Amino acid sequence: MHHFNYRENELYCEDVPIRTIAEDVGTPFYLYSHATLKRHFLIFNEAFDGVDRLVCYSAKANTNQAVLKLFESLGSGLDIVSGGELYRGLKAGFSSDRIVYSGVGKRMDEIDYALEAGILMFNVESLEELHLINERAGLLDLKAPVAIRVNPDVDPKTHPYISTGLEKNKFGIDRETAIEGYKVASRLDHIDVVGIDCHIGSQITEAKPFIEALESIKRLIEELRGMGIEIKYLDMGGGLGITYDDESPPHPREYARAIVESLKGTHLKLILEPGRVIVGNAGILVTQVLFRKSGRVKEFVVADAGMNDLMRPTLYKAFHAIEPVVRGEGDPITADVVGPICESGDFLAQDRKIRNVKKGDLLAVMSAGAYGFTMSSNYCSRPRVAEVMVKDDSYHVVRNRESYQDLVVSESIPPFLGD
Ligand code: LLP
Repeated sequence: MHHFNYRENELYCEDVPIRTIAEDVGTPFYLYSHATLKRHFLIFNEAFDGVDRLVCYSAKANTNQAVLKLFESLGSGLDIVSGGELYRGLKAGFSSDRIVYSGVGKRMDEIDYALEAGILMFNVESLEELHLINERAGLLDLKAPVAIRVNPDVDPKTHPYISTGLEKNKFGIDRETAIEGYKVASRLDHIDVVGIDCHIGSQITEAKPFIEALESIKRLIEELRGMGIEIKYLDMGGGLGITYDDESPPHPREYARAIVESLKGTHLKLILEPGRVIVGNAGILVTQVLFRKSGRVKEFVVADAGMNDLMRPTLYKAFHAIEPVVRGEGDPITADVVGPICESGDFLAQDRKIRNVKKGDLLAVMSAGAYGFTMSSNYCSRPRVAEVMVKDDSYHVVRNRESYQDLVVSESIPPFLGD
């Protein structure tokens, strides 16, 4: 359930006709529904009621300050993967002791920043990283709270680029090495072993892989206990999928029930890092049709948003439904919806049956709230688009469209090139 619905023939976000926002801010822009964001977070969080847990929204899916602020106000923690995300999280008001930090390549300055901020836990992804954290914590005269990210070698049955829990993936540490890692960690002066972590992939549409991973982690926790190493936090990562087209992922309540069932009798504090399931269907990308064009073998709809604005279709062959903001006349067409960029991979949809659209029409690219803006770039010197949040019958630009000046503001010409 989300708040993007037609009234008569016109698409609304909550109580605002999307056309009026486009007239005001221009296109393209990302549009988020406050009510949907809030609802999705609360449903997910409340699904774990009765369980000691901390839901740490995964910032990478959508890091807009307004989005972060909303989740913070609803009691969320934050899952980060960089110093930049830590900065954004603190700026949005997250308390540092509700922040967990994952990622295979944490730099020394990022580790220092997180140590000084006093985050809840580092999810450590290699033994070298463990030693570096210990060393940096020593210099700051601190003890760093860590979990080891274990790679449970479970097949999440998702796109290979977003599967992370297989042995061949770069993420986490295999079971045997993880046990070694825990032994080492428990002896290091500036490390406090507090948790265990896994994240097996993203856009997972069944509960089974999560449970397989959880069972494997539970066995590991028992083994560690036998060695005198007590685990307090169990971080299950994120990964729950959403409906883009005809997928039917488990409802968060079903997902929660399966996890809670499997955790019965343990006294662990559960940490979850959902991203997509919270924000994915709470946002859309609005773009305008620049031209229609009939090739010899294909029909093209040329839009003003391209792969730099929404990378998912070309990178993962991801499906995003495309709907007209105002439904017009005419039979449906089958077309490639493409962007203005000089690459054949620049498409939002291929061979897609859509409603008939003409030059000037507005299109809504659905389910674009997760990994949409955050993966956008300035390729082809295209200013990054605006982001707008609707609440009830009003809206607010939560990020201005970049200007041409913004494109060059951080660049400089060296003296040896002259004036
Ligand atoms: N925790 C960790 C350690 C992660 O690496 C991720 C996502 C999450 C949590 C959140 O996963 P989610 O609940 O959103 O599935 N750009 C890709 C998705 C990459 C996911 C990377 N890690 C896409 O557009 O599909």
